[in-house]
Amino acid sequence: MINKNIPNIKNNKDPSLEKMERKANIILNSLGFKSFDELKNKKILDIGSGDADLALIAKNNGIDIVCSDIDNEKFQKGVELGLDYKWFSGYNIHAESESFDLVLSSGSVPMISWKRSEVIDLLKEVKRVLKVGGEFRFGPGCLIASVTDSNLNPAERNAIWQPNKDAKAKRRKLSLEILHSYDPNIVETLISLRTKYPSVYYTMKKDK
Ligand SMILES: C[S@@+](CC[C@H](N)C(=O)[O-])C[C@H]1O[C@@H](n2cnc3c(N)ncnc32)[C@H](O)[C@@H]1O
Repeated sequence: MINKNIPNIKNNKDPSLEKMERKANIILNSLGFKSFDELKNKKILDIGSGDADLALIAKNNGIDIVCSDIDNEKFQKGVELGLDYKWFSGYNIHAESESFDLVLSSGSVPMISWKRSEVIDLLKEVKRVLKVGGEFRFGPGCLIASVTDSNLNPAERNAIWQPNKDAKAKRRKLSLEILHSYDPNIVETLISLRTKYPSVYYTMKKDK
């Protein structure tokens, strides 16, 4: 027999918090982290934080992330929520050189940069603010610049956006070419996130 007086803890959970947790975990996993523990004891900057789901849930786990975005509304909302949220572009980070252990970017620049030169500028700027031994994790997927700023003809360009294995592999190859033209040690990692195709994230380390 069901005792109706026992509270259903699952249903008592704030649905907006549950949604935020889901989104934060997707961002975390798509950048190759298994849990928030991997972010502990690091000075972290997130570029293009948007609604800052990652930082808000990280905060609940005792981890501070410095958020940033070019969008003034996102910045103001983030500050109102009590986050350390800055208003600047990833191409011009308002931070001292060598001040972060980890820089993150999910679904923002350089993935959404339109030109190869912008991708390189972004990587240079991130390297400036990384401490020696620090790393930049960014993704998911390919660089838009790899397609828009390539020598592909219109038919090839159309084909490369198709949702199939070959097109995705080609986009990844072009992306890696751009990234390696700046730093040949940037690593591409394929991960399975319960979707049809594997997801990709990239790691750039600052060794010296
Ligand atoms: C698709 S959202 C991703 C938000 C969040 N990182 C996530 O994964 O849910 C992309 C964000 O990048 C920001 N953005 C676009 N260009 C930027 C730039 N140059 N510098 C910093 N942020 C930028 C946008 O304003 C937007 O909030």
